Amino acid sequence: MISDPSPGFGVYIHWPYCARICPYCDFNVLRDRGRETEKAELVDAIIADLTATRALSGPRRLTSIFFGGGTPSLMEPAQVARLIAATRALWTPAAVVEISLEANPTDAEAARFAALAAAGVNRLSLGVQSLQDHALRFLGRNHDADAAITAIASAQKNFDRVSVDLIYALPGQDLEIWADDLTRIAATGVEHVSAYQLTIETGTAFHRAARRGTLSPMPIDPAADAYAMTQNMLERAGFDAYEISNHARGVTARSRHNLTYWRGEDYVGVGPGAHGRLTRGGRRHATLTPRRIADYIGGVGGSSEPMSTGDVASERLLMGLRTSEGVAWSDLSALKIPAAQLAHLSGFVELVDGRLTVTRQGRPVLDYLIGELAARGA
Ligand SMILES: C[S@@+](CC[C@H](N)C(=O)[O-])C[C@H]1O[C@@H](n2cnc3c(N)ncnc32)[C@H](O)[C@@H]1O
Ligand code: SF4
Repeated sequence: MISDPSPGFGVYIHWPYCARICPYCDFNVLRDRGRETEKAELVDAIIADLTATRALSGPRRLTSIFFGGGTPSLMEPAQVARLIAATRALWTPAAVVEISLEANPTDAEAARFAALAAAGVNRLSLGVQSLQDHALRFLGRNHDADAAITAIASAQKNFDRVSVDLIYALPGQDLEIWADDLTRIAATGVEHVSAYQLTIETGTAFHRAARRGTLSPMPIDPAADAYAMTQNMLERAGFDAYEISNHARGVTARSRHNLTYWRGEDYVGVGPGAHGRLTRGGRRHATLTPRRIADYIGGVGGSSEPMSTGDVASERLLMGLRTSEGVAWSDLSALKIPAAQLAHLSGFVELVDGRLTVTRQGRPVLDYLIGELAARGA
């Protein structure tokens, strides 16, 4: 069954500045050193980009705006309000537009939540990561567990919808302590939890440490146990794992914006280094903005490439199988997946009522399954 089947159209706004750079993060970020003039120019450039994109997209029903980063909770609320107003004026807002913003749970940022809510944000995604001070130090975070708990309470006072990001499977992590974190997060009453296994991304400080041998990632088996435990505990606490790492208390608590990605719907990506997907002239296009802030402001670079039917189908497979609603089999026809391959993966994937989904047993080996299906279809 698909929840909320009405088509989505989202706008992603990338804000690249962070108070400090975390050693695991490979997003397009840079240290915030004031740069107030540059930030004002960036807001103007984002509005110009949105306006140019509207000319290409034509009229659409806007279902979500997502301020991601970087750390958009460091934006001036007036800048957030300006970007929301510009986006709403360019496309036709749905009755309810989900407007999410990623925030770090420092005291200074929590003090701005009321102003961000007044600017129009109605869903806050808080990067709590852990409730253990030693883990937060290891992750290079600029907040402790008490600040995170205070920030969750403040977020709940100011926003109808609150989501918490957590990172687990840290080197040597004690699963009982992780279980305790999950219990405490569930007890706060937040409607949504994104629980990610720590990934050692190329080019990060953690990657260099792993190469030097000073950081040992959690081995595959304990990490798989941690994954299973996370799914089970959050399910018992009333969260539905509607995506491989995302858990919501009921259908209305799901992230409308992220569903737009996972369902292969159109979204605009603005700000430096932002990806988008836009159907125009009947053809889906992959867009990418310039990664460097100066280039973005100067309008230098960026791309919009038409996607082949094979690329579109591969992306549908990759994104759709992450979700509990799966992907329409008809969307995968260009992959020509043989029926025998489905039979071979029986128990791990299933095709019911024209939709392909991954079973509970298949979820821990999702990447393998996608590889098998994509390869056999090629
Ligand atoms: C774009 S980040 C930023 C949000 C915000 N700046 C923060 O740090 O709280 C979104 C989320 O991705 C997750 N994340 C980023 N890098 C990761 C990694 N290497 N492994 C696992 N999770 C990661 C974190 O949970 C983070 O909150
Ligand atoms: S995890 Fe968040 S705060 Fe840390 S560098 Fe990445 S975007 Fe910035």
